[in-house]
Amino acid sequence: MTPLRIVLMGVGLIGREHATLVRNHPRTELVAIADVSPDGQAYAKELGIPCYASYEQMLDETKPDGAIVALPNQMHLAAGLACIERGVPMLMEKPVADTVTAALQLAKASEAASVPILIGHHRRHSPDIRAARRAVQDGELGQIVAVNGMWLVNKPDNYFAAEWRRRAGGGPLLINLIHDIDCLRFICGEIDSVQAIASNSIRKFEVEDTAAVVMRFASGAVGTFLISDAVPSPYSWDIASGQALYFPHQPEDCYFIGGRKASLAVPTMNLWRHEEQGGHWQQPLVRKHMPKDRSLTYVNQLEHFAAVIRGEQPPLVTARDGTMTLAAVLAVDLASREARSVRIAEMLG
Ligand SMILES: NC(=O)c1ccc[n+]([C@@H]2O[C@H](COP(=O)([O-])OP(=O)(O)OC[C@H]3O[C@@H](n4cnc5c(N)ncnc54)[C@H](O)[C@@H]3O)[C@@H](O)[C@H]2O)c1
Repeated sequence: MTPLRIVLMGVGLIGREHATLVRNHPRTELVAIADVSPDGQAYAKELGIPCYASYEQMLDETKPDGAIVALPNQMHLAAGLACIERGVPMLMEKPVADTVTAALQLAKASEAASVPILIGHHRRHSPDIRAARRAVQDGELGQIVAVNGMWLVNKPDNYFAAEWRRRAGGGPLLINLIHDIDCLRFICGEIDSVQAIASNSIRKFEVEDTAAVVMRFASGAVGTFLISDAVPSPYSWDIASGQALYFPHQPEDCYFIGGRKASLAVPTMNLWRHEEQGGHWQQPLVRKHMPKDRSLTYVNQLEHFAAVIRGEQPPLVTARDGTMTLAAVLAVDLASREARSVRIAEMLG
C-alpha cells in the first residue's frame, strides 16, 4: 500500500510528536510542514522537508492525503476551513476550536462538504479507555450510578513563565480537564449539567490551580472530579496509564466507575463485584482483572486517522462530538465563576 502523504500545521510541542509518529509509521509519510517560527523552519530543514509560512500554500502545492493541525486553538477554525475547502481530511488537535460557535461552524462545514475531521482526543484510542467503555456498554458494571476521577499533578515553576498560563483561561480547567471530561463522556455517556469550585490559593495567580467539579450525567448517574496542577501524585491518566507522551509511568488509578453490578478502576482495570449476584456490603467482594490490549495510544490514533483518510472508518471523535466536550469544559469554567449549576445545553446556545 502506498504511504499516505501527510502535512503538518504547527511544529511546536505536540506538532513535533506528530511529526515523529508520522515519519516512523510505515503507512504514512510526512511531506511538508507549515510553521511561521524560525524554530519550525529549522526543524523542517533537519527533517529534509519543505516548510511553508502559509498553510494554504502548503495545501495547494503538496495536495496531501491528510493534514494534522497542531496550531494554537484560535487558529483551528481557519485552518480547518482551509482543509475542508480543499477536500483534505484532518486530524485536528483538541480542543476542536477556541469557542463553541467556532466549533459548531467547523462541524457544520465538515458535514456539509463530507470532509472528515478527527479531533485529537487521543485518550479515546488508549487500550484502557477503550476497555472501560466496552465494559460499560456490555453491561459488566450494570447501570452506572456514581463516577469519580482525579488529575492531580505538580507543574514546574517555569511552566508559568508564559504570561497566558497565569491568566484566566490558561489553567487546568480549560487546558487539562478537557481530556478527562472527554474520557468520562466517552465511557459514561453525555454530561447534562455541572457545578464547580475553583481555587487559586496555592500559586495565587489569576488562574485557578485547583478545582472540584460535580457532574450530572444524562443517564442520571452523578460524578465528581478533582483537578490540581499543584499536587505531586500518580493520580492522573497521564502518569497512571503509561500511555502519555513525556510523563513517567506510575501504575495507579485515576477514574473509578461505580455501577449497580460492579465498580471499575481505570487504568489498572480492576473490576470489583460481590461474589454472589445481588450481593451486598457485608458479603465478600471478588476482583476481576479486565483485559486490555498492549497497543499504543498515539499510534492507534494515527492508524485510525489513516483509516479515516482512506474512507474505511468514520472519525471516532467528530467535530460535533468534540464540540460537546468543549461545551462541557466551558460549562465547568462558567459554573465555577458564577457559583451555580450550568447545563451543557446552555453553552450550546
Ligand atoms: N493532544 C495532546 O496531548 C496535546 C498536547 C499539547 C497540545 N495540544 C494541542 O495542540 C495545539 C498546539 O499546542 P502546542 O502546545 O503544540 O502549541 P505550541 O505553541 O508549542 O506550537 C504551535 C506552533 O504553531 C506555530 N504557528 C503559530 N501560528 C502559525 C501560523 N499562522 N502558521 C503556521 N504555524 C503557526 C508556532 O510557531 C508553533 O510552532 C493546541 O490546540 C493544543 O491544545 C494537544
